[in-house]
Amino acid sequence: MRLFVALQLSEEMKDALCAAQDALYDCSRGGNFSRRENLHMTLAFLGECPPSSVSRIRRAMEQTGQSAQPFSLTLGRMGRFRRGGSDLWWAGVQRQPALEKLALDLQNALRSEGFALEERSFAAHLTLARQVDAPNLRPEEIPLAKCTQKVAQMSLMESTRVGGVLTYREIFSVKLG
Ligand code: 2AM
Repeated sequence: MRLFVALQLSEEMKDALCAAQDALYDCSRGGNFSRRENLHMTLAFLGECPPSSVSRIRRAMEQTGQSAQPFSLTLGRMGRFRRGGSDLWWAGVQRQPALEKLALDLQNALRSEGFALEERSFAAHLTLARQVDAPNLRPEEIPLAKCTQKVAQMSLMESTRVGGVLTYREIFSVKLG
């Protein structure tokens, strides 16, 4: 199972992100755009794990969730990462210490349960499209609505291919606080 822990997004948030995707699509020569139902924010990427590891992941998520509190997430500015010669475009969020603490605490709890996570530090982003062909487009040229949502839970997600289509399935969620 290919697993990751993520925050699910509200429909209003997805509306705002899809509007940004539309603008990016119109200003690019194409790319691999995330499907609306796949939009999310990853807190920790676990990668390939045996089904037997799910109980340890649940323990780490519950322990982290108990010491966290719900918070609000507000869209910030657009950005991009260079990935192997092509660009991944993302929507950012306004700085939220509670989000950074949640991601850090979760990653530490998962490591304590024996998971070897990547060492790179948490960079909050919402991936909108990969392999975007728009070398001269600047992120600030794509408008992003100042949408806000409450975050009160986190979800263990499985990444699969259904009929060749990348699909994210929620296995369970854990409340914050
Ligand atoms: P990304 O959108 O920046 O690629 C499912 O693949 C989720 O896990 C995505 O949000 C993805 O982030 C994230 N992720 C983090 N590290 C990853 C890795 N090494 N390989 C694939 N996905 C990763």
